[in-house]
Amino acid sequence: MPQTVLDQSVTLNNGVMMPIFGLGVWKTKSGKECTEAVLAALEAGYRHIDTAKIYANEEDVGKAIRESGIARKEIFITTKLWNADQGKDKTRKALESSLEKLGIDQVDLYLIHFPVTSKRLESWKELEKAYHDKLCRAIGVSNFMIPHLNELLKESAITPAVNQVEFHPFLNQVDLLNTCKKHKIQLEAYSPLAHGQKIDDPQIKEIAKKYYKTPAQILIRWAIEQNIVVIPKSTKKERIIENSKVFDFKISDQDMTKLNGLDENFRTCWDPSEVD
Ligand SMILES: NC(=O)c1ccc[n+]([C@@H]2O[C@H](COP(=O)([O-])OP(=O)(O)OC[C@H]3O[C@@H](n4cnc5c(N)ncnc54)[C@H](OP(=O)(O)O)[C@@H]3O)[C@@H](O)[C@H]2O)c1
Repeated sequence: MPQTVLDQSVTLNNGVMMPIFGLGVWKTKSGKECTEAVLAALEAGYRHIDTAKIYANEEDVGKAIRESGIARKEIFITTKLWNADQGKDKTRKALESSLEKLGIDQVDLYLIHFPVTSKRLESWKELEKAYHDKLCRAIGVSNFMIPHLNELLKESAITPAVNQVEFHPFLNQVDLLNTCKKHKIQLEAYSPLAHGQKIDDPQIKEIAKKYYKTPAQILIRWAIEQNIVVIPKSTKKERIIENSKVFDFKISDQDMTKLNGLDENFRTCWDPSEVD
């Protein structure tokens, strides 16, 4: 059984290695709260941080990474293109502004945050250019449902490396996962703890007890067992450490089947088919 292997990675469709586990910083307040959370995570062995322009904490993420003293190339950074910045004219500027805030020359992964109907295809063309110009090591999408992916795959020169969507046992989007697998798009699970709303679920608690683990660790490990990238958020050092202790056990096939059966189409975030 491996010890804590926080650098376990997946290989994206362009050969770039992406750590399977990272820290999300949505709703982590700009300033001390964010720098301290990122520093605590890096100290605990995390090497992957997920931010976005709209989280308003890219500067803090960059600051914490510099303060950590860990080499830039050892840390995988994702940021995202916000809706208001989509389109031919604004996308490149938005990426450059994110790079400046983060204090880096190149981001590891740049995602279109939402599939904004009138802008997503031209935004993607700009991401392709930015990728060719080496401003990002990989490009991908977020909140893309199957029809959005099918449309993009028809129009794009580059297949997205990643699709970041809400994904946990209570929103087990199997068809979307299979579509991503078919096209070699890495699925990345956001809100893997159902935004904290399923931590007290009795069925998760029962499985957690059996493995001497916490409900959060079971929810995170459920994604890792399926080779899904997972980015739980916490601002609390103890939880940041707790959430990372998911590489020293395996969930049995029988318990994975139980967890897979918990789907109830429970969304903690928006339904991407209804957002524009
Ligand atoms: N692309 C998108 O549209 C999108 C949308 C949503 C999220 N995301 C990304 O995914 C990341 C994670 O999703 P999320 O922030 O929505 O939710 P999450 O990670 O599912 O849950 C976070 C919540 O759970 C609590 N928590 C964390 N660890 C815990 C533990 N061990 N025990 C009990 N409670 C715990 C946190 O509180 P404390 O902070 O107080 O510990 C917070 O309230 C985001 O931060 C963001 O990077 C992306």
